[in-house]
Amino acid sequence: MTSTVELLKIKFNQALVAAFGEDFATTDPMVVEATNPKFGDYQCNVAMSLTKPLKSNPRAIATQIINHLSLDEICEPPEIAGPGFINLRLKTDYLKTQLQKMLGDERLNIPQVNPPQRMIVDFSSPNIAKEMHVGHLRSTIIGDCIARILEFQGHDVLRLNHVGDWGTQFGMLITYLKEVYPDALTTANALDLGDLVEFYRQAKVRFDQDETFKETARQEVVKLQAGAEDSRRAWQLLCEQSRQEFQLIYDDLDIQLTERGESFYNPFLPAIIEELDKIGLLVEDQGAKCVFLQGFTNKDGEPLPLIVQKTDGGYNYATTDLAALRHRIETEKATRIIYVTDAGQSNHFMQVWQVAKRAGWIPENVELVHVPFGVVKGEDGKKLKTRSGETVRLRELLDEAINHAQTDLETRLKAEERTETEAFIDHVAQVVGLSAVKYADLSQNRTSDYIFSFDKMLSLQGNTAPYLLYAYVRIQGISRKGNIDWQQLGTDIKIVLEAEAESILAKHLLQLQDVLAEVAHDLFPNRLCQYLFELSQKFNQFYEQCSVMKAEEPQRTSRIALCDLTARTLKLGLSLLGIPVLERM
Ligand code: ARG
Repeated sequence: MTSTVELLKIKFNQALVAAFGEDFATTDPMVVEATNPKFGDYQCNVAMSLTKPLKSNPRAIATQIINHLSLDEICEPPEIAGPGFINLRLKTDYLKTQLQKMLGDERLNIPQVNPPQRMIVDFSSPNIAKEMHVGHLRSTIIGDCIARILEFQGHDVLRLNHVGDWGTQFGMLITYLKEVYPDALTTANALDLGDLVEFYRQAKVRFDQDETFKETARQEVVKLQAGAEDSRRAWQLLCEQSRQEFQLIYDDLDIQLTERGESFYNPFLPAIIEELDKIGLLVEDQGAKCVFLQGFTNKDGEPLPLIVQKTDGGYNYATTDLAALRHRIETEKATRIIYVTDAGQSNHFMQVWQVAKRAGWIPENVELVHVPFGVVKGEDGKKLKTRSGETVRLRELLDEAINHAQTDLETRLKAEERTETEAFIDHVAQVVGLSAVKYADLSQNRTSDYIFSFDKMLSLQGNTAPYLLYAYVRIQGISRKGNIDWQQLGTDIKIVLEAEAESILAKHLLQLQDVLAEVAHDLFPNRLCQYLFELSQKFNQFYEQCSVMKAEEPQRTSRIALCDLTARTLKLGLSLLGIPVLERM
């Protein structure tokens, strides 16, 4: 179904055409949520922007618009306010009908897009044999949420893990592997290298202090690139180790990803250089092959080159991204490609895309989007570190969140004199801990840095995962106490909206569709968090002010239905953030 805002926009465009002619068919009617609920639910601000083309004053324009407007089914008669705002208040009957439609539909009356678009979300993308750090955690959480929302909308989404599984460091790693585990390549058994990050560190020490080692490492890179069998086996061994480590995190966080690392694009790299050369973009500069960028200069004001092939013939991160881009467009047929990385990589993407555009590789209908995010900081405002000052391991961070959640839960159970099984405590602590980490990240405007605080993210008060989970639990409690089977309610329910808190909640429930459309477009998940937070608050007010079980019919059933719709909206909204609900906590 068309959402309320979309419907109002259509109606306003029709009125503009009727009043002022066909030229105004595509004018943005500027319909937005009312800034102050005192004046209505929505407002239309278009009159002020039409004074010039129509050579008239905004109040007169507003009057003319209203004269041609037919909103009878949706709104009370519109009112003009101030310089020419048109204020709109939804009719109670309209609200009731919409709620009834939501009740009877699994997707809460939110339609799928038609036609769907082929999209790629490139996210998480850690590096082999290096640590998966909090930056990758942010990318994983934000990218997954974006993918979930686009999938819910009905798009055809490919979730790609562009892991860093190629590069000169593998020469060093393979040489070291052969040195410390001489049998590694011949034993059939899987090898446990233990901590790969530590392995990397030790390899680097050997590399830096021993010239012979360095030389062997260099030859090893060449062998690997040439496809020598033992080098490739060693490389695969290292990748497999890392993959297993990453997978533990993905399992914990319920993340689905298709791995398509940098190495996947190796066969396509020479063609990139050839084509750039053919088009005339390629320049040789001190032995390196590069493309000079427009609008990027070094500190002396000279144009900056994007190097695509190094002096030694090797390719780099940018070359791979060029090849990936072409593959995603030509083979995967994606028309929207979304990259989720820290803000520090903005320039990298701008440069790669510029070269691709100038090469003619990006058709008109393809949209490239970088979704940048800020840095995670500790409570001291500095980059997140462990107490002993080391960088934080993701596994440990997540475990710590779960432990914190468990301590909180046990304290609360004691205070409430409740006894619960160990399985219950484990499950709740796991869900609450991990959800808190996800939600703390998603609820921030992603472009800003955010402060990582277990106490804040686990608080039962405020804009946190536990607060939302608790609102859901509370509603489940109502149904348990009242012996209500939501499924049995049926859909043919007479909705009553008399108390103010009832219609405030009802109006909010109708907005999910617009919020999701907004997030799908702008890619800011915090908008959805804010919506769910306000929903919980509005529900809590409703529940304080309106008795549910003790109300008379038809109020009672209508209120139960409002509870049900709130719970279903919370459950759906949270699932799109990658957060499962709990029945009790
Ligand atoms: N591996 C990179 C890193 O850890 C992120 C890759 C992002 N995706 C891309 N297509 N460049 O910073």
